[in-house]
Order: sequence, then structure tokens, then C-alpha cells
Amino acid sequence: MDAPTKKWSELIELGEGFLTRKGIEESRSICELLVARLTKCGRGELHRFLSEVPEERLVEAMRRGLQRVSQGEPIQYVLGQWDFRELTLKVDSRALIPRPETEQLIDLILRSDVIKQTPKPLIVDVGTGTGCIILSLAKELKDGFFVGLDISPEALSLAQENAVRCGLAERVHFAQSNGCGELDPESVDILVSNPPYIRSTVVDGLPAHIRDHEPRLALDGGADGLDVYRELVQDAIMILKTGGVLFFEIGEDQGVALHDLLQDHGFTAICIHKDYAGHDRFVSALQST
Ligand SMILES: C[S@@+](CC[C@H](N)C(=O)[O-])C[C@H]1O[C@@H](n2cnc3c(N)ncnc32)[C@H](O)[C@@H]1O
Repeated sequence: MDAPTKKWSELIELGEGFLTRKGIEESRSICELLVARLTKCGRGELHRFLSEVPEERLVEAMRRGLQRVSQGEPIQYVLGQWDFRELTLKVDSRALIPRPETEQLIDLILRSDVIKQTPKPLIVDVGTGTGCIILSLAKELKDGFFVGLDISPEALSLAQENAVRCGLAERVHFAQSNGCGELDPESVDILVSNPPYIRSTVVDGLPAHIRDHEPRLALDGGADGLDVYRELVQDAIMILKTGGVLFFEIGEDQGVALHDLLQDHGFTAICIHKDYAGHDRFVSALQST
């Protein structure tokens, strides 16, 4: 990574070799993502730039990005932004990087009967992180009231920046809260959450780019991974209207435990939904009383 006379295509080759020697997986894609970001193009348009020789400042930026990735930082944090459905969100170490499975959670909600039957639903997203879920719902639904809650002030500050960035600051309200906090009883149509659900002992063994860079508060669900679900189910009983629905993202081995937890608390129409990889990934349940 030295001479400013090299074309982007050559810099990608060099970068790929550098990262591979450092033991980084998917090094080619990472280099392409970096170059796409620096040339401000989509990855699919990259071919238009490959034979260009970039300015020295861009070569330097590429060098800095490669250094950060080589030290284990996730590429998403290095890029500083990541696409989620229709939005390009700012991402950094204040919050979890939005995962592709979570995009499916939005589809589940958009296709649900409760959405079809409720003209202006109140939707609450607990553990909002970057704001990806609630901002997407606000973007893709014409009407409604949208609230994002998080226990982490750092995550909330990022979610608020994302709301401004996406032109949704007027439509989404964010607040700090442990669980559902101070919401009025029987006021909420939809409660959605992708809470931390990894067992504490498993968090310690996660790949370093996750364990050492993403907030532990976003990952660690306690001894059995279910701590925050237990709090949320208790809260949901209070705040959901009769006919209100909760939607949770879950770990692939947590379907039975969530089903039992929700049944024990009087929820009905409990349904476990699979992700595109065929794993149990979401649960929905109805507050019928
Ligand atoms: C797995 S991340 C999900 C972030 C984002 N919703 C997403 O899907 O990418 C979980 C989030 O829950 C928040 N959180 C953890 N415990 C919480 C609690 N008791 N009450 C509210 N938020 C909590 C964390 O700060 C983190 O932002």
C-alpha cells in the first residue's frame, strides 16, 4: 500500500493480500467495500473506478481503513455506515451493527393483521440500538406513532442522529428506558424488540471482531440468554392493548423457551417464525385479554 500511482484495482489486490496475511476473512469483499465507500459509489458500480488512479488522500484513507480492519474492527464501523432495508444508517461502537435477519422482522410486522387492522398504530421498539427497526417502520408505514427505547444513552444518541440523517426525526420519539419504562397501560399496539439474547458464557467465546467491538450490553442476555425477554414479557402484559401483538427476534435455540414463557404469561396465537436460513428466529404473540 504505497505508491499513489497505483490504480484502485491494484490497491484492492494489495489490500486483499495484506488482510489475508493478517488472518482476516472475506478480505476481498472488505477491500471492495472500502473502495466503494471512498469513491462514493455502490459496490455494483465499482468496475467504473477500477482503472482510475486515486488521489493520495484516498490512498491514505484506504490505508487507515485497512489498518483498523487488520486490528479486528468490524468493517461496518470502519465504513461508518451500513444499509438496512431502505435506510443507510450511521454505525459505530455505540450500538450493535444491524444484522440482515433483523430486516425480516420488519416484513413480519408489515404483513401482520394488527398492522392491517390498525390505521395509526403505536409501535414501541425496545433496545433500539442504531434505531434500525423503528426507523424502518416509520419509513415504510404511512401512519403511526413510533417510539424507540434503549437502556444505553450512547445507543440512543446514535439512534437520534440516524433519525435526523434519515429525515425521520419528527416522526420517531426516542427515550432512555430499562425495558418499556413509563408507557401508559394498555396503550401500545405493537411491541417489537431484538434484545440481547446470547448467553453470558457464549459472549466470551464470540469472534473478537464482535466481542471486543460491539457493546456487551447489546449481546449479553444473562446466564440463559433470556433475562431481557423475561422483563419485556412482564412489561408487555401491562402496556399492550387487547389485540396488541409483540414481535421478538430470538436466538435459533430459544423458540421453545420463548413459546413457554409467553404461554405462561397468558399470550395466545404464539408463533415461531424462521429466518431465510431456516432457523427459528422470531416469535410473535397476541395479547388477547
Ligand atoms: C441486540 S441489540 C439490538 C439493537 C437494534 N434494535 C438492532 O436490532 O440492531 C439490543 C439493544 O438492547 C439494549 N438493551 C439491553 N438491555 C436493555 C434493557 N433492559 N432495556 C432496554 N434496552 C436494553 C442494548 O443497549 C442494545 O442497544
